[in-house]
Order: sequence, then structure tokens, then C-alpha cells
Amino acid sequence: EKGGHKHFMHKEIHEQPRAVADTLRGRMLLSEGDVHFEGWNLSADKVRALTKVTILACGTSWHSGIVGKAMIESLARLPVEVELASEFRYRDPIVEPTHLAIAISQSGETADTLAAFKEAKARGATALALCNVIGSAMTREADITILTNAGPEIGVASTKAFTTQLVGLYLLAVKLGRMRGTLTVKAAQEHLTALTEVPKMIEDVLKCEPSVKRVAREFMGAQDFLFLGRGPMHPVALEGALKLKEISYIHAEGYAGGEMKHGPIALIDEKMPVVIIAPKQPHVAYEKIIGNIEEVRARGGKVIAIIDEDDTHVATLADHIIRIPAASALLAPVVATIPMQLLSYHVADLRGNDVDQPRNLAKSVTVE
Ligand code: F6R
Repeated sequence: EKGGHKHFMHKEIHEQPRAVADTLRGRMLLSEGDVHFEGWNLSADKVRALTKVTILACGTSWHSGIVGKAMIESLARLPVEVELASEFRYRDPIVEPTHLAIAISQSGETADTLAAFKEAKARGATALALCNVIGSAMTREADITILTNAGPEIGVASTKAFTTQLVGLYLLAVKLGRMRGTLTVKAAQEHLTALTEVPKMIEDVLKCEPSVKRVAREFMGAQDFLFLGRGPMHPVALEGALKLKEISYIHAEGYAGGEMKHGPIALIDEKMPVVIIAPKQPHVAYEKIIGNIEEVRARGGKVIAIIDEDDTHVATLADHIIRIPAASALLAPVVATIPMQLLSYHVADLRGNDVDQPRNLAKSVTVE
């Protein structure tokens, strides 16, 4: 059932080209520059009248929400707030009938997300579920459901659910952008064309596994890890840290690069590996991230840099490099997440941990 893989998590990491292709299939109308979602029932008037999107999620799904914010804001020009579901409902949130509430959840059963989603709906928001399990509680609550089609995810650590959520959010951002008139047909076609390349891009990035494994071997004994990323790489840094904590039980923190000097820099010494996610893109502030690398090196920290295939500069500054294919700003998070998943997987496996069933964790958190 694991198809030759040692763990479900490893199988699910390698399934991502297929999972993403299944999430895209039948939804991209390339010649029209539009997106088709089964059961979409929001009128153009309603979409144009939207004033805000509120994303509700927990854990890894919350990280995908942060990426989704960038996608929806840039393509549909709608303000997006990303809320931890467990906080949202306890603070008398402002919800209007012109708001779209999006619950993001692999299982569709996470108690906090479900409760927040119900709360937003009760206060008049339109409720959209981005979910991997058809018939789950969230899909039953939703006015509209977009399925991620990742297939069953068995490993407790979320992998293919996350990347399929990212492409699902991208499709949604294109759809909203077209309906609101903020995205031209031509621009939409370019985004959709980029999306068609994602399965192949993931196949390519999976080839970094041997270099990730070497890094895992070198740092499997570390007590702490720091993950840094700017712009669209910030949620990838958060996700890298969460994955590592969950299955390797190594303390890890994810930070936006610019925040380092406001505190975490105090932690850096020669024992501290720092994963710096530094593909070369305008939104990542490449020069600034190079500054981060120098700051870490100056304090003896060990830099593991995730960089573009053709990068020649960072390659000379870092202690270890992991190369990934170049991607657009909105798709780079999909690509850059793969080495994060592989790193946590191999560290956990080398430490002899139960990768698919990490201690203290459940696949679906149905208590609040
Ligand atoms: C991380 C992980 C959890 C879930 C979170 C939400 O690997 O699996 O953080 O992402 O519990 O679960 P869903 O997406 O099912 O609502």
C-alpha cells in the first residue's frame, strides 16, 4: 500500500506531481482565460461586491492561507485576512454579507476551523470550503466547495494536501480576478499556462532529494533550526519549521528574514543550522536575503540555502545549497516547499522516529 516507499509521508511527497495535476484537471479554460469550478454559484454581481476575504485555517492549512492571501490580493485586488481559526471565533470578529469566508482544510473536520467557518457564515459571510475530503463537515457547511483532489493523505504530516491547496487557491484567485475584472484574459492565460507546468516542476524539484538527504545527515543531531524566508517564502519558512517540529521533534522556528535582527539573531551560534529560502525573485528581496546569510555566517551559524538552479552568488556564501527550478513569485512557494518536506522527512527517519504517526499528534484534530 506504500507502493515501495518506507513511509506514507515519503509516498505522499512523491505523489505531488499527480496530486497537483488532479487538482488542476478540468478546471483550466485556457482559451477563455478562465477557471471552471463544479458547483460554483456566486454571481458576477456578488463577486464584484465582495469587500473582503477571510481565510480560516489551522496548522499547515493556515500556511497555505498566507500564500493564498498574496495570490488573491494580487490577482483579484481584494483585501485578505488570514486568521487562525482557533482565535477568530473568540474575538467577536467583524463579518459582513460582502465578505467571503474561506475555510482551508485537508480533512474538513478540524473542530476549530469548522467552528470559525460556521461563525462567519452565521454572521452573513459567503462560505467557501477548500477541502480534500468530499462529504466532510466543512463541505456540508459550505455554500461552495472546491476540492483539492490530493487523494487520501495518511501520513500525519501534511504534504500533498498543502501543495494542492496552493494550486487550488491560485485557481480561485484567477477566477475571482476574472469575475472582478482585475485580470485580463491574456494575464489569466499566462497564469493558467504557468499552472500547467507545476506537475513537471515538482518532478524536477524532487530530484533535489539526494542533496537534501546529505544535509539531513549532517544536521540530524541539531537541537534547534531556524528557517528564514521573505515575501512568498515566509509561509514556506513557517511550514519548514512546522514540519521539522512535528516529525523530527527538533525545535524549529520560521521567521520572515527582515525580523531576524529584531530578536532571533540572538539565538545564532555555531551549533545553529539556518535554512534560508532564497530563490531569486523581486518579491523575495534577494539582496536583503543575502544580507541575512552574511549575518548568520558572521555569527558562526551554518547556512543551508535553497536557491535557483542557475544561482551563482548565494552558492558561494552558503555552507550547503539545495537547488530548485526557478518559478514565478506565486508558484515558487509550491516548489520551495518540497525540499522542506524532504528535509523534515529524512531528519525524522534518520532519528528513527515514527514518521507517519508522530507522538502526541492526530491526523485530524476534532477537539477544540
Ligand atoms: C501539519 C498538520 C496540521 C494540520 C492542521 C489542520 O502537518 O498536519 O498542522 O495542517 O491540523 O488540519 P486540516 O487541514 O485537516 O484542517
